[in-house]
Amino acid sequence: MKNDKWHARALTAGVAVLLLVGYDSDQPMAHKEPHTAEQLKAFEDVFMEQVRTGDLLFHGDAATEKQLNVKLSNTGMACAMCHPFASDTHPHEFPKFQEQMNEFATLRDMINWCIEKPNEGEKIDPNGPAMKALEAYTYYSNRNSKLDPGRH
Ligand code: HEC
Repeated sequence: MKNDKWHARALTAGVAVLLLVGYDSDQPMAHKEPHTAEQLKAFEDVFMEQVRTGDLLFHGDAATEKQLNVKLSNTGMACAMCHPFASDTHPHEFPKFQEQMNEFATLRDMINWCIEKPNEGEKIDPNGPAMKALEAYTYYSNRNSKLDPGRH
């Protein structure tokens, strides 16, 4: 009886995978075609634009905050004053249990914690443009760090 149930489940899962793979099979698969130099340049440009915006936000640029409709700090302290060059932000260690929050946290949770607590600012949309830019800058500044989730 137990075995039958397991078989039924395995069969359902198999059918689901076939449906997924078969679905839109005439669409190119991810990374099938090598990217052209122009595409790579365009991707890099998009990325670096985000890094630059994040850099401005991280350094408390009022014009960028206004443009993205966020207020990251009400103490006069920008992120960079406590984390020069994004030091001690350790993006490669997330997600992890974060003592300050007493919960399992992503990098975005932690960025919002810093905005709300030390900065006394207003939490930002975790999927909004300001968060994406801050994330891009934080990762970029810590590039080549070894991915090590859960570490303290
Ligand atoms: C007044 C000082 C201060 C300011 C300003 C500040 N932080 Fe922090 N930040 C801290 C403290 C304190 C911690 C918690 C201790 C720790 O984990 O290093 C922390 C931790 C972090 C972490 C997690 C580090 C880790 O390894 O767990 C990130 C990411 C972070 N801050 C990002 C930001 C961002 C982005 C801003 C600006 C919006 C900012 N911080 C502004 C003091 C500050």
